[in-house]
Amino acid sequence: MSYYEPYSELSGAAKEFDRVIQSLIEELDAINLYNQRADVTKDESVKALMLHNRNEEIEHAVMLFESLRRVTPEFDAQMKTYVFTSLPITEVEENATGGSGQQGSSSSGSGSLGIGSLKNK
Ligand SMILES: [Fe+2]
Repeated sequence: MSYYEPYSELSGAAKEFDRVIQSLIEELDAINLYNQRADVTKDESVKALMLHNRNEEIEHAVMLFESLRRVTPEFDAQMKTYVFTSLPITEVEENATGGSGQQGSSSSGSGSLGIGSLKNK
């Protein structure tokens, strides 16, 4: 868990954002653990169960990404740029930014996630 201190100063929206982000971290960690257990087990029935559970966690993680996309215009813009593309990812970035590394069509126009800078925290 990583919290800005004092947590009580965070807005309601930032706390909700944090809940989703922390849940996503937990789902990604679970995906990784189930995948590793499936990889090493010698028991095919255990392997099948680990892969089943991993895939359930993938569903949960994607649901959380979608939740973030719906409330965070920057997630929406980046997902529209990168998700379900087939070019090499760096080429997608070059196409989106004209090689500058900066997208010109951010929904908010600020390039900020709206959650405040983490510099010097
Ligand atoms: Fe889950």
